[in-house]
Amino acid sequence: MRHVTLASGATVPQLGLGTWHMGESGAQRGAESDALRLGLDLGMTLIDTAEMYAEGGAEEVVAEAVKGRRDGAFIVSKVYPHNASRTGAIAACERSLKRLKTDHIDLYLLHWRGSHPLADTVAAFERLKADGKIRAWGVSNLDIDDMAELAGVPSGRNCVANQVLYHLGSRGIEWDLLGDCAKRKVAVMAYSPLGQGRILRDKALAKVAERHGVSVAAIALAWTMRHPHVVAIPKSSRPEHVRENLVAADLTLTAADLADLDAAFAPPKRATPLGML
Ligand SMILES: NC(=O)c1ccc[n+]([C@@H]2O[C@H](COP(=O)([O-])OP(=O)(O)OC[C@H]3O[C@@H](n4cnc5c(N)ncnc54)[C@H](OP(=O)(O)O)[C@@H]3O)[C@@H](O)[C@H]2O)c1
Repeated sequence: MRHVTLASGATVPQLGLGTWHMGESGAQRGAESDALRLGLDLGMTLIDTAEMYAEGGAEEVVAEAVKGRRDGAFIVSKVYPHNASRTGAIAACERSLKRLKTDHIDLYLLHWRGSHPLADTVAAFERLKADGKIRAWGVSNLDIDDMAELAGVPSGRNCVANQVLYHLGSRGIEWDLLGDCAKRKVAVMAYSPLGQGRILRDKALAKVAERHGVSVAAIALAWTMRHPHVVAIPKSSRPEHVRENLVAADLTLTAADLADLDAAFAPPKRATPLGML
């Protein structure tokens, strides 16, 4: 497993675990926390969640998964934009901490930009950090202009991560945001790195996967992780998929692989607005 060191000094695995849609069905919760626990056992110790996912249900699944092993997990959670005011973000974080059954969140993100000024959200994040409730903070779905604005607000440069849509079928960030984040020492977290499963039937991916004797999912993930400051967070509730995804952690794609993938999934030729789900 390769690791990424955040500007806060924390080191995280380059391959983590997503949780969107977990916690939505009571009957599935056991299987979901088992899948997360397997991921932790295999070294995918970063878990990404949000107060939005199943309206707190996903955070409860994460609590179950990290029970008795909190120190071995790096928990990322996110605040809803409508809660991201100076006082609202603090109250939201406290609710998340209760659901997560922990005393701190390792990385707390603004889920996407809403109507509260960035300066107010940052002030709340800095307060939470000073109080030991979060260890570091970042953002999600912020495009290049938003990142420049963020850098201009008090303590805005303390942002350590920007979580954005990035997979073979959505490569817009390669034009500018990816390099901009690297310059700012902001790690990029690639969400929906499997294109929510939709890119996995592609023939070029299948060809590269066959060449390496691995699954198409492993190739798709290794492709996002070819940048050293990108962390991929695929979601899976199935043990066989979690194991398949782990293969990406030790995979290096060749120039021929990358050329085949570029031919099937064209890199951007101009700036485009950041894709969002
Ligand atoms: N910040 C944001 O705005 C934002 C937005 C979207 C997502 N996210 C985060 O990013 C995480 C990942 O994104 P995502 O959940 O949208 O999509 P994703 O990880 O690209 O894809 C998840 C889908 O792929 C399937 N899958 C996983 N591993 C597979 C494998 N080896 N072979 C075949 N299918 C596989 C999963 O099904 P099974 O469960 O059946 O394996 C699930 O249906 C989320 O869970 C969330 O934590 C953040």
